[in-house]
Amino acid sequence: MRDWLRMLGAGCLGFFVMCGVGGVAQSAAGAKAAPHKAVAKAAAKEPMVAATPPMGWNSWNFFAGKVTDKDIRDTADLLVSTGMRDAGYVYVNIDDTWEGDRDAQGRIQSNSKFPDMKALADYVHSKGLKLGIYSSPGAKTCARFEASLGHEEQDAQTYADWGVDYLKYDLCSYRTVMTAQAPDDIPAQYKLMREAYEKMHQAILKTGRPMVYSLCQYGWDSVWEWGPSVGGNLWRTTGDISANFDRMSVIGRGQAGLAKFAAPGHWNDPDMLEVGNGKLTLDENRTHMTLWAILAAPLIAGNNLTQMTPEVGGVLMNKDVIAIDQDVLGRQGDRIFAQGPVEIWAKPLSGGRKALAIFNFGETASEMRRISLHLKEAGFLGHAIAHDVWAAKDLGPISDDTKFSVPRHGVVLLVVR
Ligand code: GLA
Repeated sequence: MRDWLRMLGAGCLGFFVMCGVGGVAQSAAGAKAAPHKAVAKAAAKEPMVAATPPMGWNSWNFFAGKVTDKDIRDTADLLVSTGMRDAGYVYVNIDDTWEGDRDAQGRIQSNSKFPDMKALADYVHSKGLKLGIYSSPGAKTCARFEASLGHEEQDAQTYADWGVDYLKYDLCSYRTVMTAQAPDDIPAQYKLMREAYEKMHQAILKTGRPMVYSLCQYGWDSVWEWGPSVGGNLWRTTGDISANFDRMSVIGRGQAGLAKFAAPGHWNDPDMLEVGNGKLTLDENRTHMTLWAILAAPLIAGNNLTQMTPEVGGVLMNKDVIAIDQDVLGRQGDRIFAQGPVEIWAKPLSGGRKALAIFNFGETASEMRRISLHLKEAGFLGHAIAHDVWAAKDLGPISDDTKFSVPRHGVVLLVVR
């Protein structure tokens, strides 16, 4: 069962042919940056959620279809006892496979893995955490459980009654509605898709309960251009991540060019973290965490906290890395240089500082021979003083000629002022 569900998660549904096309966001170069008119209006009247990229935990990447009430309670306990909650990871998000049938009034029930959703929400809240849930605009979710088509307002109200604070809304089988209603007409299909997301947005607003609204439709139709206009606080820019370095780095590197679409309340989402999952090494976990922080990406951990090693905890809870992700400027970073496997990315931070990450996506260590740090491109004309974040060390002045040794699949992360 779990493998079957994982397979669905990794590749999306078989009939869901467009899912993950290219897998990664197209370059946004040339894309229209002008925000939809509705954005400013909507932002003015709606309570601000996700002023910085949402942080929390989601059940899918590790537990997938096996997740239970007990896993969520254990996770809530561990978010507190490990220090993750205090580091910022406050949303506990139940992904797909919690859904049961509808009662005679059409009200969605949780299934036997989740005997009492309201009690679970109360438990999560009692720990100083918030609860997230998952559905789809289609008739069925990606794992073919009951979803919200035709029940949007009712479902949003049920979530609000339970005390839900965050909804991930995953396109999944709504694709069959789109193709049935507008066969061979992709623009018309996309319009239906945007309307479906707006419908749930309005349903959430009607409840009066603030909820983070997480759009999951794999980046189709350049969602970064219209996500805010349908109330999205974050939108997936890609197909599904998996716990291996190649997939993680292809997704992360593919975010180049999307920076201009991120702002407080509205974030590009390159998918949930795999830090601590699979066989990712320390360097690979650091690369993953660094790249997501530079991208101002939502930091939604996806590991099994009951088995978290101190090393993995150290990566997820590095305060300086989290501070880069959560910086109040709310600016996403971008690539400023690439030469083969070595890439330099920069993110503007408050106080005129910049985060500068030197990645080595290659198979052997790099000494950066003949590679300049590109400080001018990062915004430094005069002298620059650096702090090495992962080494927790002040480096003093640096110049374009300063060389770093960057391990295979590793990164050097600097905060420069
Ligand atoms: C899709 C999403 C995943 C996960 C699964 C659940 O594949 O992209 O993140 O939510 O569905 O079925």
